[in-house]
Amino acid sequence: MAKPSTILFKTLFIVYFHQSQSATYNIVDLGANPNGEIESTNSMLKAWTLACASITPPTIYVPQGRFLLKDLHFKGPCNNNAVTFRINGTLVAPISDYGSIGGAANWLLFEGAHGVSIQGGVLDGHGAALWACKMSGNKCPDGATTLGITNSKNVAVSGLTSLNSQMFHIVINGCENVMLQGVTILAPENSPNTDGIHVQLSTGVTILNSKIGTGDDCISIGPGTTDLWIESVGCGPGHGISIGSLGKDFEEEGVENVTVKSVIFTDTQNGVRIKAWGRPSKGFANDILFQHAIMSNVQNPIVIDQNYCPSNKNCPSQVSGVKISNVTYQDVEGTSATKVAVKFECSESSPCHAIKLENINLSYKNQAARATCSNAAGTVAGIVEPSSCLF
Ligand SMILES: *[C@@H]1O[C@H](CO)[C@@H](O)[C@H](O)[C@H]1NC(C)=O
Ligand SMILES: *[C@@H]1O[C@H](CO)[C@@H](O)[C@H](O)[C@H]1NC(C)=O
Ligand SMILES: *[C@@H]1O[C@H](CO)[C@@H](O)[C@H](O)[C@H]1NC(C)=O
Ligand SMILES: *[C@@H]1O[C@H](CO)[C@@H](O)[C@H](O)[C@H]1NC(C)=O
Repeated sequence: MAKPSTILFKTLFIVYFHQSQSATYNIVDLGANPNGEIESTNSMLKAWTLACASITPPTIYVPQGRFLLKDLHFKGPCNNNAVTFRINGTLVAPISDYGSIGGAANWLLFEGAHGVSIQGGVLDGHGAALWACKMSGNKCPDGATTLGITNSKNVAVSGLTSLNSQMFHIVINGCENVMLQGVTILAPENSPNTDGIHVQLSTGVTILNSKIGTGDDCISIGPGTTDLWIESVGCGPGHGISIGSLGKDFEEEGVENVTVKSVIFTDTQNGVRIKAWGRPSKGFANDILFQHAIMSNVQNPIVIDQNYCPSNKNCPSQVSGVKISNVTYQDVEGTSATKVAVKFECSESSPCHAIKLENINLSYKNQAARATCSNAAGTVAGIVEPSSCLF
């Protein structure tokens, strides 16, 4: 074993050597082991501590190899607003010992990490053992989100792959200006609660050119999301792109100005969905545009469901207080896996209004599909098939 003074010297040397060429911290130089079996958590944390302390824009470099990591908290603010993670290898969560991170809310959490950018890399959450526990009906931890980004501004994630998270893959919470692009997310169709990307209480999030196949929502959009842009995404398998669940709480922030554009849904449970609990709430969803969607064998291509009340607990016979208005569906085509391709089940006490359907062409097994509506008002333009039931 090296003497502490030697390690200190090596570290100082690395820092000194790289500072002049815009500090790069290679986690292997800091003691990380690329064999996937010996834990590298401390080396990664050391890299973050050094990078975060740097006053010039630093890079944390993860070379090829597999790096076993327990849960990590990358906490800012830092002395710079531009830490870059360049990941060429795979970050691996503990394989069978899911409890060692399953009790943490997040496996990799960035908090107050303004200006962080993550480039490339594979995050392997090894969720299978936890899913098996959940599916067996035993008592299990909830599981960890693979990548949490919270209370951070100006974050960019590109070329990242997330595999088999225990719970959600990526959660953006309380953030401003986040760009995710070229992200790949994969988990099996039957893996529980493995939502692809969840956004909440955040403004200015953009999700581009990404491919998501998972066991729950490809993208879920929670309360307090504004100015969200989603474009060129492939979704499936999974539960589609969902605004909601909204209205779980009475005091709740609304969702406003969301664009979902050029998304291809393949064999998903839903296409574009807005979902709200059937209970009182001040929540709302306004100014939503679903544009250029292709549905391929989707069970509910277009759906608003304001009667969400799982297991009939805490909401039976109540109506949703969530106000849904100005929702446009433009240029949506393809096939429904069920007869009802368009379903608007809105609240009795606050009906959906200003729903717009424009150029919709959805069929069911080469026949006409159907639309069903309750408490939904709006207008139609162009060809709309199945024909509209809005009042
Ligand atoms: C990353 O790994 C690839 C091989 O997978 C290699 O070709 C490339 O040079 C590496 N990039 C860097 C910056 O080390
Ligand atoms: C809506 O959000 C987009 C970004 O997604 C933004 O460019 C646009 O200015 C926002 N519109 C309004 C009216 O705030
Ligand atoms: C409806 O929402 C769209 C965005 O989808 C926005 O551009 C438009 O201004 C909104 N219309 C009204 C009347 O608020
Ligand atoms: C609707 O889609 C069907 C099947 O893809 C196609 O044959 C038909 O021409 C389309 N109708 C319109 C009006 O585009």
